[in-house]
Amino acid sequence: MSNARELAGGVAIVTGGSRGIGLAVSGSLARGGARIAIVARDAERAAGALDGLEGDGHAAYSCDVSDSRACKKTVAAVESGQGPVSILVNNAGITRDNILLRLRDDDWAQVIATNLGGSFNMVRAAARRMMKRRSGSIINITSVIGLMGNAGQANYAASKAGLHGLTKSVAKEFASRNIRCNAVAPGFIRTDMTADLDESVVDALKERIPLARLGEPDDVAGVVRFLAGPEARYITGQIITVDGGMVM
Ligand code: NAI
Repeated sequence: MSNARELAGGVAIVTGGSRGIGLAVSGSLARGGARIAIVARDAERAAGALDGLEGDGHAAYSCDVSDSRACKKTVAAVESGQGPVSILVNNAGITRDNILLRLRDDDWAQVIATNLGGSFNMVRAAARRMMKRRSGSIINITSVIGLMGNAGQANYAASKAGLHGLTKSVAKEFASRNIRCNAVAPGFIRTDMTADLDESVVDALKERIPLARLGEPDDVAGVVRFLAGPEARYITGQIITVDGGMVM
C-alpha cells in the first residue's frame, strides 16, 4: 500500500496537524495522494509543517476547534480553496491532568470543549457537506484512556470515552449516506504530550506493553491512512487500539 496513491484527488482535514501524531497523519495521508488541510491554533507553525509534506495543494488554517463558528468557517474555507473534503481526522487534543478533587472547573471545561466538543464541531461542519456527496471518512483520535480510565485524568478519560460514543453514533447516523466514522485509540506514543514522562515511568509502562516499547506517531498514522482509504470501505463504528497490545 505504501507506494499506492489511494487517496489521490481527495482533501483531508487534520486538526492539530502541525506536530506529533497529527503531523505524522498529515504526512501519511499526503503520501497517499490527498491534499492536506492542516487546522491548528498556531497558524505559523501549521504553515511551517506544510513544507515537509509530499505533493502539492496543501494548506494551513488557523482555527480553535472548541469554537463552533470558527470550525464552520474553516471547513467552508477548505472547500472553496482546496475542494470537497473527503477525509476528516479529529486529532486536536489537550490534557489538564490532576486528581479529581483538585480538578478546577476550567480544567474540566477546556478538556471537554476541545477533545469532545472540537470533534463534534468539526464533524457537524464537514458531515453536512459529505452527506450531499454521499461519501466521506471521519477518523477520531481517541485514547486507550477512554477505554480504561486513569487516576488523575478523569476529564481526559471522559472526553475520550465521549468520543467513542460520538464515533458510533455518527457511524450509525451517516452510514446510509456512505460516510464512515471510526476511532483510533493510541496507547503511549512518543510526542510532546508524553515528553515529560520520567524514564522510570516509561520503564514501568513498557512492562505493561507486550510489544515492549512506546509507540511512534507513524504507528498511529498508518492505521489512520488505512481507515481513510478504500481498503476500509466496509469498516465503520470501530475503535481500533494502537497500543502495542497493552489493552486486550
Ligand atoms: P500534541 O500536544 O503534540 O498535539 C496536539 C495538537 O492539537 C497540537 O498541534 C495542538 O496545537 C492541537 N490543538 C490543541 N488544542 C487545539 C484547539 N483548541 N484547536 C486546534 N488545535 C488544537 O499531542 P499528540 O500526542 O500528538 O496528540 C494528538 C492526539 O492524540 C490527541 O487527541 C491526544 O489526546 C491523542 N493521544 C495521544 C497519545 C500520546 O501518547 N501522545 C496517546 C493517546 C491519544
